[in-house]
Formats: sequence, C-alpha cells, structure tokens
Amino acid sequence: MLRRSPAPPLGFATRQLQPIEVDVPVRSRTTPLYLSAGFPFDAFDESAEHFRSGDGYSYSRVANPTVAAVERRIADLEGGADAVLVGSGQAAIVVALLGLVGAGGHVLAGASMYEGTRGLLLEELARLGIATDFVAGSDQDAWRAAIRPETRAVLLEAIPNPRNDLVDLQAVADVAHEHGIALVVDSTLATPYLLRPIEHGADLVVHSASKFLAGQGAVLGGAIVDAGTFDATRSGHLYAHLVSPTRVGGPSRVERHGPLARIAHIRDAVAVRLGPTISPLNAFLIGQGIETLSLRVERQSANALAVATFLDAHPAVASVDYAGLPSSPSRALAERYLPHGQGSVFACTLHGGEPAARRLVDALELFTVMTHLGDVRSLILHPRTTSHTQRTEEELGLAGIHPGTVRLSIGIEDVDDLVRDLERGLRAASA
Ligand SMILES: Cc1ncc(COP(=O)(O)O)c(C=O)c1O
Repeated sequence: MLRRSPAPPLGFATRQLQPIEVDVPVRSRTTPLYLSAGFPFDAFDESAEHFRSGDGYSYSRVANPTVAAVERRIADLEGGADAVLVGSGQAAIVVALLGLVGAGGHVLAGASMYEGTRGLLLEELARLGIATDFVAGSDQDAWRAAIRPETRAVLLEAIPNPRNDLVDLQAVADVAHEHGIALVVDSTLATPYLLRPIEHGADLVVHSASKFLAGQGAVLGGAIVDAGTFDATRSGHLYAHLVSPTRVGGPSRVERHGPLARIAHIRDAVAVRLGPTISPLNAFLIGQGIETLSLRVERQSANALAVATFLDAHPAVASVDYAGLPSSPSRALAERYLPHGQGSVFACTLHGGEPAARRLVDALELFTVMTHLGDVRSLILHPRTTSHTQRTEEELGLAGIHPGTVRLSIGIEDVDDLVRDLERGLRAASA
C-alpha cells in the first residue's frame, strides 16, 4: 500500500519502486512466505515503539513471520517453550553453546558424536578459549568426575552419529543439574517424533533441520529449542550474562524474561549478533517438511530395522551399529528412550576393509553416495575417506570407524528393493 500519495507525476525510476497493494486480506492454507529482508514502519513513532517493546517485525535477521511460525511448530513438537531457527545444524550447535559458555569456560560432551561438532569443539571453540572434555557411556560417576568449576554446558547426541551408542539422557541430565549446568541434546537423528529430550531432562535441544525435519534434501537449517526452565536461583551464578544488568544499566535477561532468559539471550543476542540467519524460504520448506515428519520417520525406522537385520545376518558383514537390533549394547536404552523406532542412520562394518567398502558403494544402484543424512532417499558414505579424515588412527578405532565401515541413512523406498540392492552390493564386496 502507498503510505502517502506523493504529488504526481512520478518518474519511471520512482514508480518502479513504489509498493503495490495486493488483494488483502487473503487467507493462505500454507504458512505465508515472507521473503523480505525487513518490514517497513508506518511512521517515526512506530519504529521507536518497536525498538522499545520488541513487538512486531523490523528486520529478518532479528525476526521474520515465516521463520517464527516454523519456530513455534518445532517448539511445540519438542515440548519446549520456545525455539530459534538458524541457517544450519552446525549454526544451531554453536549458537546454543555460545549462549551458555564463553572464553575460559568448559563444555563436557559425549564421546560419540557427529564429526563436525567434534571438530567445532576441539578446534574452533578451543581457539576462542572454550575447552572440551569427552566422556564415554552413561556412568554418572564418570560424568560427575569430569565436571569442572568452569563447566557451563553438557552436550550429548540423542542417537550418536553414526555409532548409535546411546547414552542415558536422564542419568546425565541429573548429574548436570546437580551442578546447575544446562544439558544440550542434539536430537537430529531421533527427531521429536521418536524422542523428546526435554521429557528426559534436557534444557536445550538442537537439530540439524537440514535432515529429517526438512526431509527432502533441498535446504539447510538448524533449530534450538529451550525447555523454558531457567532457574536463576540455582544456575544464576554460572551464567552471569543472564542475571547481570545490560551494559547500559537496563534490567537483566532474567528480570525481563524469567525462565525464558536463556533462549531470549540466544535469540536476541547470540543469533542476531553472530548472524547465521536462516532464509525465510528455507524455513518455509522446513515447515512443509515437518508436516510429513511422523510418516517419514516411522517408515524410515521400520525400513532401517529390516535393513540392519538383513546386514547383521550377512556373512560379508562384520558388525552393524544399530540401536534397534536385539544384539546392540544400546538395546536396553533403545527400549526405554526409543520405543517407537530407533531411527534410520547407522554404521555397518564389512569384512575386507576399505576395498570391500569401495566395491559395495560402487555397486549399489539405489543408494546415493552423499555426506547428507535423513533424506527420503537412502544414502551411503565411507566415513574414513570422507567425513573422518581429520582423525588419528587411534581416534578412528575408538569411534568404531574402521576401514570397512560405511554409514547408511535409510530412506522411504520399498524395503525389499533396498535389501536386493544391498544383497547385490555385498556380493560385489566379497568378490
Ligand atoms: C547429528 C548432527 N548434528 C549436526 C549436524 C550439522 O548439521 P548441518 O549440516 O545442517 O549444519 C549434522 C550433520 O550431519 C549431524 O549429523
């Protein structure tokens, strides 16, 4: 709508820039896509009021209605109080962690995790003065012993990528909470359909929305969900940035946002200032993807169990790291935490090392060779020569990444076709 009617005649260059009124109001069945860098104010006073109250929209790095709608959907499905969407899963992890920990601080992380997160902790955050220690397994005394006075975050993967060696979330949450420390759970491989970590003590949940949430491999995105339970009495001494007045003497985050102080800081300070903003178009596509999440994940988990069972019984296969198998060391935790399906991303190690893995990968016709996962299509990757090249031999051994290991991400295809393809691939691998 033209805000005011300028005196005609306007020149060509001016006319090509004037806003055009569309037939509003019109209702859209899908979430409307506001592909706009920002949003105009009607007048001087409205702009000042926006900056005073924070209500409404000004600039899409700060907030965007399409992004906000998808954030609300993800927060609801996770059982959280609020969510922030950012440009990738990696951005979600770094923004969540920097909302909790700064230079001189310490992160305690599960030993089994996505290689990109491990590199972020060991190299990039280390360069910023943030140290990390890793703990394997669920033994509470081992976690307790690793907590330092400067620990500000505990980070776990709900289903570790790619090894599926589950950790007892509630046991680790209890140890973190004994010390007032936040537990962050990367639930990318589980999705809120299979597991809602907040129900098991997580304070923050992060996702690579590029995977199952989007589902079709078209876009990248990341989500940070907060339980909305920040307790300044128990944890305020650890998170001074949440309880201190602003630099210019204004009220603290806790005074303004109460139990939502943590996510308010993540949204308004860390994400806005570091700027890993998601495109509204990507948010829109993630929102579309989420509408079929339960159907896809249910089918993918069932397909994955059938594929893992087939692989486990095959003579060319040395081991299958799938938490849903009766033989998995994580079986008891899977029954407790993942009763409706154990996901569809896992590792499988062939006899015959790298040459066998190469023959399998090259013989498969239905599996796409990709670093991606959580797609509707089945994918395969040889971690040792791709994602895990920055690890020492000893680290690879500890992570269960052997020369014959491949990572599979099972899609929604007809499972008999996948098994036939793998049968043929394994014949080639053993040749
Ligand atoms: C468990 C997990 N977390 C985070 C990420 C990073 O997500 P993105 O690629 O969207 O940055 C990945 C990527 O594979 C992942 O597997």
